Amino acid sequence: MQSRTVSIARRDDIAVLTVGNPPVNTITAAVRADLNWALDELSRAPAPHAVLLLCAGKTFFSGADIGEFHGPPKEAEYRALFARLEGLPMPVVAAMHGTVLGGGLEITLACHYRLAAADARLGLPEVTLGIIPGAGGTQRLPRLIGVEKSLDLILSAKPVTAQQALEAGFIDALIEGDLTAGALEYTRKLLAAGGGARRTSERTVDPASGTDAILARMRARAERDYPNREAGLTAIEAVRASMSLPLAAGLALEERLANRSKATPESRGSIHMFFAERESRRVRELPAGATARPIQAAGIIGSGTMGGGIAMCFANAGLPVLLLDTDEAALQRGLATIGRNYDSMVKRGRIDAAEKARRMALIRGTLDYQALSQADVIIEAVFENMDLKRRIFAALDRAAKPGAVLATNTSTLDVAQIARATARPEDVIGMHFFSPANVMPLLEVVRTDLTSASTIQTVMELSRPLRKTPVLARVCYGFIGNRMMEGYAREAERMVLEGAPPRQVDTVLERWGMAMGMLAVFDMAGIDVGVNVHKANAERYPPDPTYFQADFALAEAGRLGQKSGKGYYRYEPGDRARHDDPAAIEILKARAQSLGVAPQAHGEQEILERCLYPLMNEGFRILEERIVQRVSDIDVVWCAGYGFPRYRGGPMFYAETIGLATLLDGIERYRARFGPMHWQPAALLVDLVQRNKSLAEWERERTP
Ligand code: NAI
Repeated sequence: MQSRTVSIARRDDIAVLTVGNPPVNTITAAVRADLNWALDELSRAPAPHAVLLLCAGKTFFSGADIGEFHGPPKEAEYRALFARLEGLPMPVVAAMHGTVLGGGLEITLACHYRLAAADARLGLPEVTLGIIPGAGGTQRLPRLIGVEKSLDLILSAKPVTAQQALEAGFIDALIEGDLTAGALEYTRKLLAAGGGARRTSERTVDPASGTDAILARMRARAERDYPNREAGLTAIEAVRASMSLPLAAGLALEERLANRSKATPESRGSIHMFFAERESRRVRELPAGATARPIQAAGIIGSGTMGGGIAMCFANAGLPVLLLDTDEAALQRGLATIGRNYDSMVKRGRIDAAEKARRMALIRGTLDYQALSQADVIIEAVFENMDLKRRIFAALDRAAKPGAVLATNTSTLDVAQIARATARPEDVIGMHFFSPANVMPLLEVVRTDLTSASTIQTVMELSRPLRKTPVLARVCYGFIGNRMMEGYAREAERMVLEGAPPRQVDTVLERWGMAMGMLAVFDMAGIDVGVNVHKANAERYPPDPTYFQADFALAEAGRLGQKSGKGYYRYEPGDRARHDDPAAIEILKARAQSLGVAPQAHGEQEILERCLYPLMNEGFRILEERIVQRVSDIDVVWCAGYGFPRYRGGPMFYAETIGLATLLDGIERYRARFGPMHWQPAALLVDLVQRNKSLAEWERERTP
């Protein structure tokens, strides 16, 4: 018989229910069933004077089971269980520790008293998944702390500390030291003082906490913080009802609203991303025995922008790292930049000075390849030049210990060609970080046909301590993200040549949900960076004389973006705010004239379609060529690395949302207008539309 997730112990006249559902005590169907069983047991035995609810392991209930979101609604089941807990005649005390989120917190609102370990974190993050608290949170929390504070917690979606929860009033006490002992002591004192059951459902909500003015302010906040989304507003509607409806009616309304929110594209997109990021870590078709090798020390070649950021990732993970560069001056520059980056983290309160010192002490510089002989992984991040990289890999082959992972951070070069500069190509792999490497979560892991399964697995596992979201790719020009960006950026630039002001294009993209408009991204990354890539790879691009000419024109005029104070926009010293710049527009106009690009007006729809359709189309080609393991990996790349809105689920999910036929029609419309050079639909897209299949069906067809 399977063992239960809930155990019952008697401590004098207190029944202690302890839930153990590792690793994070998710409230699964089994946990709910076992809690119901425990309540049955309690009713059979001599009645305890109090019930104490605890969880074993590293956290109290971390939340509801997100896997159940795809199935039939579970609200009624939660409601019945929570009503049973709340209805017990003796005091019910919950004692929390760890990270208590969503349903994990809601269950405690149905208990009579709430305690938390001093380092516990409590929150209701549902709106970030496009849904609302659906297990009583919108009705019980305002009964404890009022409408305004409840909405504060729900709309911020961030966990608060136990101290903040105490001040807000939804926990009764902090427990220092051993939680079980402290909670038992609290409960004994409660009983001694004659404390009885204290049901949240019997309270009413203070109407002063939810005046029209407060609600209007909250709606404005939801619209500001969650543009293009409904969940925040839906949560406000639910919490507002707690002022006028008795609990049962309020819970019924909450259920209707929760189900409505679960059906929105924003929740389907967000929940898709939640699972996609878990999946992307898994390597399919790895032979048995392909285990990760331990990584205890790292080496990095090149202490520039990327090398320095990557070194910080290792130091942040507590791993020692050696930085190698060509001369002492370059090394010192690199180390100084790292020091300044840590200083700014100290200034912003992210770490303290002692932590900075600890991390800096993990990073050491060297000019000698032999010093790398102890490194378990070595990542090369020197200039983007094949000969240079091959020479470095030959040197690494001589210096590195057997079994060390040899990685390159190249963005455009053929990793297999680099690998063949060594006698151990099975240990060579791409680790493509994104700038700034210490901040951006995405890691494209680029395998060649020669990379061994164990090397792949080692890097996928290493991504965890480095706090990266890995996506496995096969070698192709631009890999996943940059390859898809090509068409997106091409159209953004081309529309600017056609006379659309940079701000118009960027504003449309940002209103739609991109973290930053394409032209502002160029200004941030450096316009010369893209220009150099295009020059170095000219033979790879289509023979279009207007191709990326907006970038070329600005770079030639010395407008390199933020670093030179001007690019598509103008910048004030020390400030990243974008100012419209007529001088940039004049340069672009002159270039358009000399290329014979006629001025046009652009509607919002056209800007979106021309940017997003090529992006999604290229995704289909990447799938055709089997560059990625699964469709959702592409979505992960774009959400984790390129500021694509998670609530739209990534580009491939979005293609399904608008419909593949709509996408194909759009591409054909632009092909009729601009010709086939840039507007050839991917064969896979055409095939799926012809067969009336979705990407999800295609994926099921090809994976047994
Ligand atoms: P960078 O110019 O900032 O840094 C390059 C560093 O390599 C310099 O410190 C230089 O002194 C050092 N170096 C040059 N030759 C060397 C040698 N023979 N031995 C040791 N060190 C040497 O360049 P960045 O931007 O950091 O780029 C490095 C690599 O990362 C390139 O392959 C680039 O394509 C790639 N990359 C760059 C991204 C970015 O946004 N900057 C994003 C992702 C990848």
